[in-house]
Amino acid sequence: MSLLHSGLSAQEQEEKLLNIRNNRDLSTFDIVSIDDLTVEDINLIIEIADEMKKSGTKKLGLLKGATIVNAFYENSTRTKTSFEMAGKHLGADTINMSGSSSSAKKGESYQDTTMTLAAYGAQVIVMRSEYSGLPAQLKKHVPSAIINAGDGWHEHPSQALLDVKTIIDHHGTVEGKIITMVGDIMHSRVFGSVARIIKKLGGTLRVVCPLTFVPENVEKVFDIEIFTDIEKALTGADVVYSLRVQEERGSGGFIPSLREYSKTFGITKERLAFANENAILMHPGPVIRDIDMHSALVTLNNKSRVLDQVENGMAIRGTLQWLLASRFDGKVKPFTQI
Ligand code: CP
Repeated sequence: MSLLHSGLSAQEQEEKLLNIRNNRDLSTFDIVSIDDLTVEDINLIIEIADEMKKSGTKKLGLLKGATIVNAFYENSTRTKTSFEMAGKHLGADTINMSGSSSSAKKGESYQDTTMTLAAYGAQVIVMRSEYSGLPAQLKKHVPSAIINAGDGWHEHPSQALLDVKTIIDHHGTVEGKIITMVGDIMHSRVFGSVARIIKKLGGTLRVVCPLTFVPENVEKVFDIEIFTDIEKALTGADVVYSLRVQEERGSGGFIPSLREYSKTFGITKERLAFANENAILMHPGPVIRDIDMHSALVTLNNKSRVLDQVENGMAIRGTLQWLLASRFDGKVKPFTQI
């Protein structure tokens, strides 16, 4: 955990963030996919998040008067709490809605639920759902900015942004770096966003997993290399990125057993040694200890970045909320109410 928090007062910290932002806006009104962001957008987010991280838990007023709704129709620990804490640190009024409290359980459409939340004047609606494509569909019908906090097997863009920040914190850049992803890419929305952002930023993505987890044509679509031999895949890697086997999405049907999977693809200290000497180990969480990776690696000094990813998550998510809730260019999001 970083102790590098600035000694600035809240007002000085806000001024610094405003100076860094320098009246710049994102090119998009919503973030449902990494495809919504240009390289300039990504650089702006990382630049602001670097400074936002230094403000730690200091209460700022950059989002005073703004309303942020966290609509989590599917379970979450890291994403939900970090969006909520970041919004609160920036002074927003944050409202949390879970799947069990949503009127969707009574048969209301997600569109009507989302239009209802937008009618309160929410500047941002953060949405997690089991349905791939739901945020992309709903963003067209509300004036609020939609942030996709994970949709089905599709994408999880704020995760990819915090991952890229974690890589840059250590290696200084993504360009030219080799990232080896180990695990169930078939059912992983993290893979969907990380593959897109690594390609955009000029890194190389390798994937190692059972071939049953490899979607058709994925190598061509995302420009990645597929391996089945973990030692070969890890050789020369700058980042070892482990993914969970997504049992709740039916992964069990693609492997003989978790024990078999782990014997061949679980990260161990011996396997990690095939990566470059200064390689880091990452995982989006939740980690399934002794399946995805050996338990002792989760917090291994100088290697594991799992908790740095969590910390960066708050800075990135605060940055996204600030950038989307306030614009300097005066542009208003177009939408169609039906
Ligand atoms: N990485 C991630 O999305 O974790 P949560 O499901 O806990 O939010």
